[in-house]
Amino acid sequence: MLDELRGIVGPEHVLTEPDLVAGHLRDWTGRFAAEAGVVVRPADTGQVSAVLAACAAAGTAVLPQGGNTGLVGASVPLHGEIVLHTGRLHGLEVDEVAGQLLAGAGETIGAVHAAAASAGLAYGVDLASRDSCTVGGTVATNAGGLRVLRHGDTRRQVIGVEAVLSDGSVLSHLGGLTRDNTGYHLPSLLAGSEGTLAVLTRVRLRLVPAPGPSAVAVLGLASPADAVVAAGFARRIAGVSAVEFFLPAGLALVREVTGLGAVLPEEHGAYLLLEVDGSAEALVQACEDLPGVQDAAIADDAPGRAALWAYRERHTESIATRGSVIKLDVTLPMATAGEYLDRLPSVVAGLVPDARVWLFGHLADGNVHTNITGVPAADTHRLEDTVLRMVADLGGSIASEHGIGLAKREWLGLGRSEAEIEAFRRIKWALDPAGILHPHAVLGP
Ligand code: MLT
Ligand code: ZN
Repeated sequence: MLDELRGIVGPEHVLTEPDLVAGHLRDWTGRFAAEAGVVVRPADTGQVSAVLAACAAAGTAVLPQGGNTGLVGASVPLHGEIVLHTGRLHGLEVDEVAGQLLAGAGETIGAVHAAAASAGLAYGVDLASRDSCTVGGTVATNAGGLRVLRHGDTRRQVIGVEAVLSDGSVLSHLGGLTRDNTGYHLPSLLAGSEGTLAVLTRVRLRLVPAPGPSAVAVLGLASPADAVVAAGFARRIAGVSAVEFFLPAGLALVREVTGLGAVLPEEHGAYLLLEVDGSAEALVQACEDLPGVQDAAIADDAPGRAALWAYRERHTESIATRGSVIKLDVTLPMATAGEYLDRLPSVVAGLVPDARVWLFGHLADGNVHTNITGVPAADTHRLEDTVLRMVADLGGSIASEHGIGLAKREWLGLGRSEAEIEAFRRIKWALDPAGILHPHAVLGP
């Protein structure tokens, strides 16, 4: 098998040496790691096709990997899969007239932003891991990020895809027509399929107008429940592009880890970050109408905006310094989000008294990143089960923007009916009859 793969991609692109593969075997959370592995790095769609055909013929499982920034245990080969790394699938072409960009799956989102900006445009998806995460990975996981409120999730940006099925056949529909109802819309199906249906090799993305002047505020509020109400109101502000949330414990941790100064003179019970088109004066006015706001720090110059964003964006890396992190990325309806934020800390403390709960996220969409540290391995499953059932009981989604992966596979039924899961199985079987594409993710083998 390895010789066949070496023949396809070249011997130097089949990595087996422990120090060369190490970075491909361990994920960001520190919770998921494989001991050994093989990494194959195809250079183009033809090589991806040949690799998959060879693996299907041999019955060898394949795990597509982009920037390895996933958070649900699906980006590393825990079950001996061959890692198909997309890092050499390059290419960035902006179509200024159509307002679109054709990108190789291995390009980072940071590179997509730079290419769009050089044409006076922008890409609507942005996230803290922008310089590591890739086009292929963000489409395969339907990444959300910081501006879903304005532009929608990654699925909404995808106009066409080129992807390879497990038998090596290439599906290519990259013409860029935004009105095109010729049959099933495969980009919608492949976005969020988590590498289980096909390997994405190139993607045509819609671009959006470059943002004009904007202002950012960090608001201090008395309580998480007040933040939920204010986030709901903030959605009505004309030109609002982001409404993010964090708590005093997370803010203190970010400051301790990064050395950032205080954002507001006093501590508050909860914080919202608002980004709005226009000037600081306009944002001050808009904030006056929001209920429960106690204080605000506002900036409308680029360094000032970036300084305020840092308090929110640096949560993930700061929490990672506290050891292994349980990441329960969930969405609540706005009607029950306040109850979730209020009750969750005591629910967790009741199960694991020494655990620390870090709550932050994209609150205008009800998306609460529920990060928990200090949980002994023996308590992890019971804790996850309790929290995810609580979310389902409150009418929420157990997998918001990070997907199901392996980490949430057993709870898929909390969000989907038996009939839906059976339809998923039939789709998987139809597109990957050999069952080699990321077989342990989402549905499991
Ligand atoms: C973020 O929005 O910063 C990440 O999606 C959250 C996380 O690391 O849990
Ligand atoms: Zn997020």
